[in-house]
Amino acid sequence: MSSTAPIGVFDSGLGGISVARQIAHDMPDEKVLYFGDSANAPYGTKTPQQVRDLSFAIVEQFVKQGVKAVVIACNTATSAAADALRDTYDIPIIGMEPALKVACDRGHGHRQRVIVAATPLTLRERKFAKLMDRFKADHTIFPEPCPGLVNIVEHGQLDDHDTVMRTLHHYFGNYDLPTIDSVVLGCTHFVFYRDYFRELLPDTAAIIDGNEGTVRHLHVVLESLGKLAPEGAEGGVTIANSDTSPRTAELASYLLHRN
Ligand code: DGL
Repeated sequence: MSSTAPIGVFDSGLGGISVARQIAHDMPDEKVLYFGDSANAPYGTKTPQQVRDLSFAIVEQFVKQGVKAVVIACNTATSAAADALRDTYDIPIIGMEPALKVACDRGHGHRQRVIVAATPLTLRERKFAKLMDRFKADHTIFPEPCPGLVNIVEHGQLDDHDTVMRTLHHYFGNYDLPTIDSVVLGCTHFVFYRDYFRELLPDTAAIIDGNEGTVRHLHVVLESLGKLAPEGAEGGVTIANSDTSPRTAELASYLLHRN
């Protein structure tokens, strides 16, 4: 596989566009083929086997398109399918998980109170249980499944301030928010809510996502294989979606350029 081959990036729908735009920002020489599976979204309320089957179908297409690596821009699909995909394909498969370590490390040895917002499937899977096991003795961690936040993005309602704030209050209204040190955005759809979370949370609470860390990891992996695109190569993001309606195409391109 040549270093100028594209990187395949996929998600259950539009959330992974937050990762694709991070790649475009941090690794501008790379070509990204983004696939959103909006016709089958959300993944977070499906069974692990359903999500594995959908993920394999997408990666199979990427391999046919000659990608040099795959980024699973979806915490849910990573929990359900990353290990099986790595066992099957030779190319690097980069996954994502809620950035709980970053949140806990912020305490420099002091107990942190951390909310992890993610999909029901991510929070139910063994991968998350193992992550919790590493930190739960020293920190207070509140896993909060928020499937409604996926649908708002998929339905193009992200700029509907009232709907978004009502939904955030539904999930987070019962927390004593001034005592929370950070909220981990453990779903790539939720990264688009950063400003809304800022409005909801006291200034002292950090909002943490795993996108930058994932792209750093992608860079390290490609560099170690000598597969980084040469400087000055023509990079960019090409978007495809299983929902082929013009509305979804417009929404995807809007999200790619939205703050
Ligand atoms: N964007 C996804 C994630 O990071 C999944 C959303 C869904 O389809 O439920 O977990």
